[in-house]
Amino acid sequence: MTPARVAVAATVNGRARAFEVEAHHTLLESLRDDLGLTGTKECCLVGECGACTVLVDGRSVDSCLMLAVEADGATIETVEGLAGRAGLSAVQAAFLDTGAAQCGFCIPGQLMSAVALLADTPHPSRAEIEEGLAGNLCRCAGYEQIFEAVERAADAVAPARARTAEPRVDVAAIPDAKVAPQ
Ligand code: FES
Ligand code: FES
Repeated sequence: MTPARVAVAATVNGRARAFEVEAHHTLLESLRDDLGLTGTKECCLVGECGACTVLVDGRSVDSCLMLAVEADGATIETVEGLAGRAGLSAVQAAFLDTGAAQCGFCIPGQLMSAVALLADTPHPSRAEIEEGLAGNLCRCAGYEQIFEAVERAADAVAPARARTAEPRVDVAAIPDAKVAPQ
């Protein structure tokens, strides 16, 4: 028996979309299979890796853990919606400039988490960036470049205010600190 399909209407990357989904399908399946938005990646399917991250009503979600029918009436943003007529968004450009992508598989999810973080916290500290992207795993371990890219994007979007400086440890002031000879 063919499973019943359910009508869903949502705004996806700024466009009103009406489509039908199978009731048991996840938002990830629907984005990729029903709407052809394959930029959102399918990986662990259990909410561990963040490769499937999209924004739903401005909040980052693992689309593998959300049913497509739950997106009815929602505003959804995927990686395909980031670039505009003028070209790449500031976050995408920063990822490109820092060489943040290696195999690139995690990058759509990393970008969406970065967008959500910067919307809430325009000037994140390094610790806030690490926490904001903690749900996105990179198997290539390119974390340093990814975090640097988010810092660059923050500076590009809102350069007027400095990011919260990370406290620096004065190694010389620590008794018995073992400092390698220079
Ligand atoms: S595919 Fe959704 S969290 Fe890994
Ligand atoms: S760039 Fe390869 S998994 Fe992140």
